[in-house]
Parts: sequence; structure tokens; C-alpha cells
Amino acid sequence: METKIQLKKASEAASDPSLRPKAFDDFIGQRRTLERLKVMTGAAKQRHEPLRHILLSGPPGLGKTTLAMILGHEMGTQTRVTSGPVIEKAGDLAGLLTSLESGNILFIDEIHRLPRAVEEYLYSAMEDFCIDILIDQGPQARSIRLDLPRFTLVGATTRTGLLTPPLRSRFTLQTRLGYYEVHDLTQIVMRSARLLPVEIDRESAEEIAHRSRGTPRVANNLLGFIRDYCQQQGQTSISLASTRDALELLEIDVSGLDEMDKQILNCLAENYHGGPVGIGTLAAAIGEDRHTLEEVHEPYLVQEGYLQRTPQGRLLTPKAWEKLGLMPVSKDSLQSEIHF
Ligand SMILES: Nc1ncnc2c1ncn2[C@@H]1O[C@H](COP(=O)(O)OP(=O)(O)O)[C@@H](O)[C@H]1O
Ligand SMILES: [Mg+2]
Repeated sequence: METKIQLKKASEAASDPSLRPKAFDDFIGQRRTLERLKVMTGAAKQRHEPLRHILLSGPPGLGKTTLAMILGHEMGTQTRVTSGPVIEKAGDLAGLLTSLESGNILFIDEIHRLPRAVEEYLYSAMEDFCIDILIDQGPQARSIRLDLPRFTLVGATTRTGLLTPPLRSRFTLQTRLGYYEVHDLTQIVMRSARLLPVEIDRESAEEIAHRSRGTPRVANNLLGFIRDYCQQQGQTSISLASTRDALELLEIDVSGLDEMDKQILNCLAENYHGGPVGIGTLAAAIGEDRHTLEEVHEPYLVQEGYLQRTPQGRLLTPKAWEKLGLMPVSKDSLQSEIHF
């Protein structure tokens, strides 16, 4: 019992618990996904059955963990939280699964990082609610079958493409979270401000929403910084002028691009004439981890039309050249450079 409480506390402490929406009704945006989840939870509750397995995918900070916790709340059960890289051996998984109670939700974050040997045990656990575990070694080795409670697996991943087809196909619902619209982010900022609490007007909230890369986590972080900034200025509420000053201090431009985004675009323009250049080369040039580039920065730059992913590599778009205030390097001028 005690370990359960500790697990829950740890997961809540991972992010500001007071800002995390607790129920479907508090959750803003992602209408399609929300509708799908409501259909599944509604039907499962009517049938008095546990929820079936769900895979949530999408870039970081869009609400995957939040939704996993909400699913527990809506189903009137507990969400136990763990993550792919933490489960190293089949025994770890068996321990986790056997400690669940019927109907519990097991949330595996970063499920694409689950070791392959562990993943294979998950197949029978998800499908037949049992797991065959090998005990002892050498001549005494034998396999025993453990029956598991009917649980729900909620997986989260930033990269659906890295999930093996057998695992992916065992999720009844696979739903993807996309970047939030400014309208929804404005509402999220207003809600967070109410909870902090700090006073903010609609224009300032909208300004923050515009510069949050479509991401609630970024919006909440900006709001937190701006609140600090205003407090240090001796103001009791957030105004548009101080919002802009604070964002200026953070070097976040009007389109929400942060330092790393700009560094990526600049590197492509200045070092590689706009590309195409392979992601590994780009990562090395910037000194950033390749996966962070692919999972955190690229999706937004691609969605906003600054970057194009081509089979030859990453390519700067005309919009990006314009953003940088530079002229695209034409391939003809490159040719003549080489010939000279
Ligand atoms: N739809 C939403 N409405 C309000 N706040 C949200 C929403 N989605 C996410 N958040 C906030 O953003 C933070 C990041 O969400 P989280 O679920 O941790 O993202 P992920 O697990 O996808 O990285 C949460 O702490 C929560 O406060
Ligand atoms: Mg998360």
C-alpha cells in the first residue's frame, strides 16, 4: 500500500500538479482525441469493464501524461506511472503487472524505449492477461505462468514510428496529439493564471499563447517566468508591456521560436547553404542530441513551414530564409563558386 502512495506522489511531483487538469472537463483542446477517449471510457463504464489499451503519441508537453492521469480519474481507478527505460528486465515488468489491481491503469511513458526483450512479455500481458516467466537457471529452469489482473495499458510516445508493429497493434486506440491552436492556448494560460493565482488580461494571455510553440508546457513555463518578472517590477498583475519585455529577456521572438530553433535555422543557412543536410550532421554541428532535435525541435519547425524533411536531408524553406533576413543561396551560384 505504501509503495503505491509513493509512486503516485512521485508522478505528481514530476510536474506542477496544481496546473494539471484533473478531469475531461478541465482539459482544453485536442477535441478529436478527447472525443475518442470519452467514447471508450463511457462505454467501458457502462459495461463495468476495464478500459482497453490506449496509445497516446505526439511531441513533448502536449498533455500525454495529463491524459493518462485523467483516464484514471474518469474510470474511478488509479493510474500507476512508469517509463520505458526504467523497466530493464522481464522481472521488473512482472513485478509491476502483478502488483496492479483489476481495472488499474498502467501508464508507460516513452514506451518506444522499452527494451525489446521486455516488450515481448508485454504482448501476452496485453492480450491474454498472463505472463510466462522463466525462473531458475540451468537444468532447474522452468517457465511459470502468472495470471494478471485485467489492467489497462496506456502508452505514451513521442515517436510512434519506433514502436514495433506487434506492440502497436495491441492498442485498441492509437491517438495523436497535435500542437494547440492559439485560441486553446490562450484559454490554458487564463486557466493556469487563475490557479497560480495571478491576474492577467486577455491580450497578454494571447501574446503568451502566440509564442508558446503550440505547447501547453511552454505556455505554463512562460507564464511562470512572466509572473516572476512582473513581481520583480513591483506589479501586482501581468500587463501586455511587461509580457513583451519578459519575452524579450528570454529571447523568444514573435513567432515563438526559441534560441535552439533559431540556432538550427541559422546553422542550416550559414553552414550548409540551406541544405539538404542529414540530421546526424546537423546535430553534431549544433552540439545537440539527435533525438532531441528530432522529437522536440523539428516537429514544430516542420509544422510551421520553416523546415522540410526530404529523403536527402533537412532543407530550409523560403519562409525560413525570410525569417532569418537572408537571401536563399541559389544552387547556380554554388556551381559557379565551385568552377572558379
Ligand atoms: N489540454 C490542456 N489543458 C491545460 N493544461 C494542459 C493541457 N495539456 C497539458 N497541459 C499542461 O501542460 C503540462 C505538460 O503536459 P504533460 O501531460 O506533462 O505533457 P506530455 O506528457 O505530453 O509531455 C501539464 O503539466 C499541464 O499543466
Ligand atoms: Mg509526459
